[in-house]
Amino acid sequence: MAMPQHFLHLEDIPTEELPGLLDRGASIKSHRLVLDSLAGSGLVLLFEKASTRTRVSFEVATRELGGYTLFMTPAESQLGRSEPLRDTARVLSRYCRGMVVRTFSQANLRELASYAEIPVINALSDSFHPCQVLSDLLTIRERTPDLSRVTVAWIGDGNNVAQSWINAAAKLPFTLFLACPDGFEPDRDLVNRALGAGAEIKLTRDPRQAVSAADYVNTDVWASMGQEGEKEERLERFAPFSLTPELLAHAPAGARVMHCLPAHRGQEITEEVLESPASIVWDQAENRLHMQKALMEWVFSKC
Ligand code: CP
Ligand code: NVA
Repeated sequence: MAMPQHFLHLEDIPTEELPGLLDRGASIKSHRLVLDSLAGSGLVLLFEKASTRTRVSFEVATRELGGYTLFMTPAESQLGRSEPLRDTARVLSRYCRGMVVRTFSQANLRELASYAEIPVINALSDSFHPCQVLSDLLTIRERTPDLSRVTVAWIGDGNNVAQSWINAAAKLPFTLFLACPDGFEPDRDLVNRALGAGAEIKLTRDPRQAVSAADYVNTDVWASMGQEGEKEERLERFAPFSLTPELLAHAPAGARVMHCLPAHRGQEITEEVLESPASIVWDQAENRLHMQKALMEWVFSKC
């Protein structure tokens, strides 16, 4: 049997296919296309962490493509009683057309993918959030079609979302400027790999420097899911990285503000900035639905 097309990170999409995939997301959205590419197919959503946007957008997208979803958590399945991932992957492959998985370690995704006979889609891990960044790229292209003119600033934690931005910068011609506190940078090997692939990536510890040429200023929570125990330390370390009106004043006029949500007002972003006309967070959330339809079409067209 041929290997299924998994989507564990953005590196799984060939560089030359990424612009076409984003175009497809845009046309699904703008033409409100009625599609049936998943007609009669069941997708299992296996989520080890909480979710609002990812869960609901995948559930709605799957139904609007003619399929249906089954939601599963470790607590309610035999995974919570130590059934191995490799057994779970092989069993679910006999029932379903694909698996959408939100988990902790990227190694869990790799294990599922290596035993699954169906595509595995990363719905967020500790290392990456590729579905989020795909949708965010669509949100940016709606405003600036020529990505070579775009500078994206990332302010805060060099986390899963930041690392997917780094993967994206290796495939598309925008500039990525990250400002992270000492000790909270993205993985150095990942950055080096992206730089080696020609990415325009800069790193600084000064958030004002990072926003100074940014068309899009992006932030995210300071303590991601699974890091709750580090919250107090992080609140202190990240305080200078809060996206406040004062920090945004260092960005060019017209810069837009992005956040994958959920937001912690008063921490990584102020209420004023989140609710300002510069904020495009609700479009980002909406685009999860359209872009994940395009992604699922792409993944399942390869099987
Ligand atoms: N942005 C995002 O993935 O949100 P959820 O955690 O609500 O799915
Ligand atoms: N970095 C955040 C993203 C939430 C969508 C987390 O992993 O919790």
